[in-house]
Amino acid sequence: MKTKLIILTSFLLMAAGLASHAQTNTFDINMKKLGAPIQPTMYGIFFEDINFAADGGLYAELVKNRSFEFPVDPLQGWTAFGNVKVREDGPFDKNPHYVRLGNPGHAHKHTGLENSGFFGIGLKEGAQYRFSVWARVPDGGNATIRVELMDRANMGERQAYVQQRVAISSSQWKKYEVVLTSPVTNPKASLRIFLQSKEATVDLEHISLFPVDTWMGHENGMRKDLAQALYDLHPGIFRFPGGCIVEGTDLETRYNWKNSVGPVENRPINENRWEYTFDYRLFPDYFQSYGLGFYEFFLLSEEIGSEPLPIVSCGLACQFQNDDESAHVPVDELQDYIQDALDLIEFANGDVSTKWGALRAEMGHPAPFNLKFLGVGNEQWGETYPEHLEPFVKAIRAKYPDIKIVGTSGPDSEGNQFDFLWPEMKRLGADLVDEHFYRPYDWFLSQGARYDNYDRKGPKVFAGEYACHARGKKWNHFYASLLEAAFMTGLERNADIVHMATYAPLFAHVEGWQWRPDLIWFDNLNTMRTVSYYVQQLYSQYKGANALTLTMDKKNVTGADGQNGLFASAVADGNKVYVKVVNTSEKAQSINLNFTGMKKNEVLKGVKSIRLTTDKIEEDNIEDPTNILPEELAFSAQGQNVNVTVEPLCFRIFVLEK
Ligand code: AHR
Repeated sequence: MKTKLIILTSFLLMAAGLASHAQTNTFDINMKKLGAPIQPTMYGIFFEDINFAADGGLYAELVKNRSFEFPVDPLQGWTAFGNVKVREDGPFDKNPHYVRLGNPGHAHKHTGLENSGFFGIGLKEGAQYRFSVWARVPDGGNATIRVELMDRANMGERQAYVQQRVAISSSQWKKYEVVLTSPVTNPKASLRIFLQSKEATVDLEHISLFPVDTWMGHENGMRKDLAQALYDLHPGIFRFPGGCIVEGTDLETRYNWKNSVGPVENRPINENRWEYTFDYRLFPDYFQSYGLGFYEFFLLSEEIGSEPLPIVSCGLACQFQNDDESAHVPVDELQDYIQDALDLIEFANGDVSTKWGALRAEMGHPAPFNLKFLGVGNEQWGETYPEHLEPFVKAIRAKYPDIKIVGTSGPDSEGNQFDFLWPEMKRLGADLVDEHFYRPYDWFLSQGARYDNYDRKGPKVFAGEYACHARGKKWNHFYASLLEAAFMTGLERNADIVHMATYAPLFAHVEGWQWRPDLIWFDNLNTMRTVSYYVQQLYSQYKGANALTLTMDKKNVTGADGQNGLFASAVADGNKVYVKVVNTSEKAQSINLNFTGMKKNEVLKGVKSIRLTTDKIEEDNIEDPTNILPEELAFSAQGQNVNVTVEPLCFRIFVLEK
């Protein structure tokens, strides 16, 4: 495929020149009749803690293994020196480990610890960092620790850039805090803690370092640049926490939402299945702190303006990894799982007098989060899935009849399981069905009409995980994003049944990824928005209010034979019209936009056009975030009939107004 892409690239300039000779494509856009409303939830985000998306990513905590609970070694992620002992009778019952710093045994020796975070600790010049720790002096009296932001590779006289002392003044566990301002920018710094009072003994637990400047200033907050990237997508729906992570490699390691709420110090860590799912991209120190838990998810949804869509376990552990029935919960023993789902709804929406509503209020949000959707199960399949889903549906309908339930059609975009599950979801009365497709170029090119003939009387579609992958090597590149844009015209045209769509996965750390392509890449200091990100953003920005019928020779424009590689859709937004055209061909295409059904004296005027194209079709923005960006162009047009040209391999949006 690489060779093909290179050939395509070399055709680009030549092809542009052919436009004037090419036949004109006439698109009839019916302005008389508004089509289905585009749901506010149409374009959204799928969050899963894969590729260090949570700890080491969106969750702004800079210390790895802050509670000394990594199971193979409680000191994993730490370098201890002098006299450091791990103990396990700490103040937090679900995280019992802590460290005891004692006399190093000589006036010229030192006791302490270092932590270099996730691939280093990213510091920005002039930025403030809040260090906090739970501590005590077990023998009574006072003691001091010294906290430093430092780098062993610092060529200055001292390794530390900045240091502060913290006086520990009680034999009881208490939280201490100090703010350090970094005088430097360094993506790979470390945190070092010295026992300053060498003769004392000090116990330390939950050692944490956060930038003060988090998203919305929350102390247990999100990395501001990454949360901003989500906000800028205008996501209508926010799916969380996955993905396979919902199911667990075994039931023990499934995402248990109840462990992700309450004080962060007492949220038990969970294994992250992406630590070991691919042994060719192994990260033995990848765990979920649950610091970004369900409360933080609901809050962030509210702050970025999305509807939250939690997915809960249906009692089936990941079916890719468990053939044996005994790995799953028998249908007649699902009660605890069903209760977890009901309790989650209560946590989100319950009155403060309810058990879980009270916890939400205690955590800082007495008002309900107004949860409307709940997914049950991730990529489940076989007869066992509807059998497991059914009791959830009954219990949720009985207690919360307004909650919309999302079922799944399994991991495949078509085939036996898919064909079996869709009617089953209809039989069970699921409101939406979650479809997944990580598929190659030819699949995306052939699916422009995918939803045109779907059952209009069944559940609605949630395209819950999708991305265009090249065969073999998978990586972010323009051509794949272009085909996503082409495919999305079919989502928009079918807005009556497609109610949600979320690209996946969302985030990837450049040093910690297991899966690609991804929507947003980042390192310890920077965010890189991919071309796929801009495709999603453009669809969201120009979502419109109602679909309009757009045809060429009375057929939907879906990249079908004879349609010159064109995909197109149109929406109305008040007095504006947005026409989206994706030219997947190697030739520039002349298009006549013929607006029908307008009054004689009515005209449409061009407002602007947005263009996303490049001749670097194998590239993306990961190394240079400005490499391929949408451009806004002037668009002067007037009338009911407008001629435009769309360049080869190009996504264009034409904005017109009455
Ligand atoms: O997005 C990565 C994974 O792909 C998800 O966890 C899973 O649902 C799918 O197989």
